[in-house]
Amino acid sequence: MLLVYATRDGQARRIAAHIAARLAERGIAAPPHDLAVALPAPADLTAVRLVVVVAAVRYGRHLPEAERFLATYRAWRRPVPLVFVSVNLTARKPGRDTEAGNQYLRKSMARHRLQPVLAAAVAGRLDYPRYGWLDRLMVRFIMKLTGGPTDPKICVEFTSWQAVDRIASRIADLHGEARNQGLA
Ligand SMILES: Cc1cc2nc3c(=O)[nH]c(=O)nc-3n(C[C@H](O)[C@H](O)[C@H](O)COP(=O)(O)O)c2cc1C
Repeated sequence: MLLVYATRDGQARRIAAHIAARLAERGIAAPPHDLAVALPAPADLTAVRLVVVVAAVRYGRHLPEAERFLATYRAWRRPVPLVFVSVNLTARKPGRDTEAGNQYLRKSMARHRLQPVLAAAVAGRLDYPRYGWLDRLMVRFIMKLTGGPTDPKICVEFTSWQAVDRIASRIADLHGEARNQGLA
């Protein structure tokens, strides 16, 4: 399995690490790779049977390295099942954590013509003190429009770790199915 993530402020990395830890409990080794450090080399991908992408959203799009990876993935000659986990603040709202309900998932899937075996959005983290002044201003504006917290001193983790556990469990099942198909 290949587990990759794209992050700026660390939450997508924490989510990828949490998934990796849950998978390790089920005997599946999937060390998370930061797409900003390096895109996986084609030679690393030959034995891969399942790809998991955990990507944060900024200003309406997944981070550029995630978009680049998804474009590369689309061009692979051998289709490998894809799990796509989007990390954003819209997913904190009821119904916005699914493929149908999350605009960022839908848009990236349409842009790259992807058909993941599992697509889910996970609520991220709001950390105003960490942001530069312009990002803080913009995120406060987005929060004001969408009924979220606007106090510039606060940091709120919206991530449901139970939801991440459920995703990890489904990934472990998919990994088992992919492995069985490989052996068949
Ligand atoms: C500058 C900036 C822009 C963001 N834009 C969006 C956005 O357009 N939609 C959204 O739902 N969340 C948006 N977010 C929230 C992030 O997706 C959320 O904070 C997430 O946890 C970031 O992941 P990371 O910590 O892995 O970078 C934005 C956050 C920042 C700092």
